Parts: sequence; structure tokens; C-alpha cells
Amino acid sequence: MGEIRVALAGIGSCASSLVQTAELVRRDGTALDGVMYELIGGYRVGDTRFVAAFDVDTGKIGLDLAKAVVTPPVAAVPHTDVDPTGVLVEPGPLLDGIGGNLVGVVEPHPASRETTVDDVAERLTAVGADVLVCLLPTGATEAVQAYARAAVRAGVAFINATPEPVVHEPSLAAEFTDRGVPLLGDDLRSHLGATTLHTALIELLQSRGLPVVNTYQLNVGGNTDFLNLADPARAAGKMRTKRSALHAAGIDASTVSAGPNGFVRYLGDEKVCMIRVEASSILNSSLTLDIRMQVEDSPNATGTLVNAVRVAKTAAEHDRAGSVDEACAFLFKNPRVGAPESVGLRQFRAYVDSVTRD
Ligand SMILES: NC(=O)c1ccc[n+]([C@@H]2O[C@H](COP(=O)([O-])OP(=O)(O)OC[C@H]3O[C@@H](n4cnc5c(N)ncnc54)[C@H](O)[C@@H]3O)[C@@H](O)[C@H]2O)c1
Repeated sequence: MGEIRVALAGIGSCASSLVQTAELVRRDGTALDGVMYELIGGYRVGDTRFVAAFDVDTGKIGLDLAKAVVTPPVAAVPHTDVDPTGVLVEPGPLLDGIGGNLVGVVEPHPASRETTVDDVAERLTAVGADVLVCLLPTGATEAVQAYARAAVRAGVAFINATPEPVVHEPSLAAEFTDRGVPLLGDDLRSHLGATTLHTALIELLQSRGLPVVNTYQLNVGGNTDFLNLADPARAAGKMRTKRSALHAAGIDASTVSAGPNGFVRYLGDEKVCMIRVEASSILNSSLTLDIRMQVEDSPNATGTLVNAVRVAKTAAEHDRAGSVDEACAFLFKNPRVGAPESVGLRQFRAYVDSVTRD
């Protein structure tokens, strides 16, 4: 089988874990814990080849991708050395990429103020990218949508790992459908993160006829994503997508507190999540779950990204246009059509089976 030519927008902690994972699998050929499928449509994780990288950070522009993924403020833990890739980080369109708490932490490169959607589209075409993975900060709506426009212009499948609306921006999503380009989003679910754990617990209780009476989900962490999310104006999209996932799990989440709840610098890339679910049982007796999960945040995103990248590539091979709905309910918090955890997993497995037996 061939390779998957991946372009990355946003060379932060999630990009770092993805690049490290691809390198480790390619070098050692090992099956990694957390990788659900060795093969999706004939592609292994090690078939991922990075062909372009965009950022706006003066400290990263011009560096080899291998160096950029360990350059502060990247907080992802370096679990393995990455050999030079030959891919240099290029300036992308700045727009609203750096705002709130990121101002002063990331110094935008002057060229990023001049870079246009067409520049990115041309570059994607020149490097023969199959997939563009968007890993920009939450709240950067204009910048995220600019990369989506570049991808659809270049006919490159787009993965929106951020909460900013792309699948949920009707005119933009329609461009993917009209031009026959696959679209995956919005807002990546971590592989086993707070959203997945929370929605799975709700489904478990509901399957036993136990209505959820009250619930919350609190998250703190110390990476740049959490620094950014500590600004309420930047975090609005994340609150929306988390509620949307809870709603798809079958509860009225309109007043549920579920979101980023603070930046704790010393935690670095560790994320701590506390979930409480109160349910009502026989004779109105009560049942309460209090769960604390601690997890390395960025590798947790990679468990999902290694699936999403292979879905995007195979969807393009199967001439899929627009949102790949049957895979997105499992992979994203705010897909076009949401579903409870078990339904999303079943749909995702069916997708993988359908492209893998061809
Ligand atoms: N487990 C997870 O970490 C997880 C799970 C789901 C979703 N996400 C989402 O993934 C996204 C990335 O998370 P992260 O932890 O890697 O963030 P990060 O802050 O570490 O990295 C973001 C990168 O984007 C760059 N950037 C800013 N504006 C840009 C622009 N206009 N063009 C190109 N690059 C730009 C920044 O310089 C930085 O390098 C966030 O939106 C986050 O909410 C993360």
C-alpha cells in the first residue's frame, strides 16, 4: 500500500505527539498500545508521511518539523527522538490564531500577517498532500476556517481537530460536498478523554433505566491549550462542543458545567478530569459516581488522530464528499450527526470494515 501525505497546521503539543508516534511506529515497526487498528483500508500508522507544516510562531518558522515539535511552548513530553524530516515549518495565515492568554507567549512571525488562503492551497498542491490536519488553538475561528478553505480549494481532505465550526459552518461544509472533498470534524474527541468517559457513563446508567439527575465534568491542565482555554472568550467553542457531546449521549446538557476549568502550570501535559454523575434509582434511591482521571493530554489526542488520518485518506479514495458522518460520531465531539458512544463505535467499526475488506 502507499503512504498518507499529511500536512499539519499548528505545530503544538498534539502535533508533537502525532509526529513522535508516526516516527516510533515507522522506526520500530511495533504495535503501540492505544492504536485500535493496525490496518485501516490497508494503511498502517507508519504509512503517515509529513509533507508540510504551518505555524505562526517566530520560534518555530524555518525549523525542521522534528525540531519544532520539541520547541517551547510545546508541552508534549518527548517520548522518542524524531529524525530530521526535511519538512520546514512555514508561515500560515495568522488572522485570529494568537489571542487572549497566548499574546506574549507566541510571537507571530511577520510573514504570517501576509500569508493568504491561496498561498496555503498552492503549497498543499505543490507537496501533493492528501490530508490537512488542523491543530490550531481553540477560539481561532477565522484562522481555522481559512485552512479549511485552503484544503477544499486544493482538493485535500480536512480534519478539524478544533472546536471552531467547519462541519457546522453550512456554506463552508457545502464547499467540501460540492467539490467532492472529505471533511472530518468538529473538535477531536481524545481517545479516552473526559468526553468519552462521561458519555459512556451516562449511556451505562441510562441502559439500566437510571436517569441522570445532576452531573458535571471539570478539567484542569498545564499545557498551552489549557493556558489558552483559561480565557473564557477563547473557551466558548470548547464548552459548546462538550455540551453537544453530552446532548448526543441523551441528556439535556444545556445547564451542565462541562469544560476547561483552569490552567495549572506545573501539570504540564498532564490533564486532570473530575466527573460526577448523580442518578435516580428504585424508590427514588440515589446513585452517585465520582471519578478522577489523570492522563497525558496530547498522546491521548493522537490515539484518535491516527484513526482520523486513515479515515480521511480512505474516504478520498472512495470518492466521499463532505462530512464522513459514520466515522465522525466516534472521532469528534461535535460531528454533523452525533450519537451515543456505543452507536458511534458501531458506525466507526462498520466504516473501517467496509474500507478494509476492499
Ligand atoms: N487531547 C488534546 O490535547 C486535544 C483533544 C481534542 C482537541 N484538541 C484541540 O486541538 C487543538 C490543538 O491543541 P494543542 O494542545 O496542540 O495546542 P497548542 O497550543 O499546543 O498548539 C497550537 C499551535 O497552533 C499554532 N498557531 C496559532 N495560530 C496559528 C495559525 N493561524 N496558523 C498556524 N498555526 C497557528 C500555535 O503557534 C501553536 O504552535 C486545540 O484546538 C485543542 O482544543 C486537543
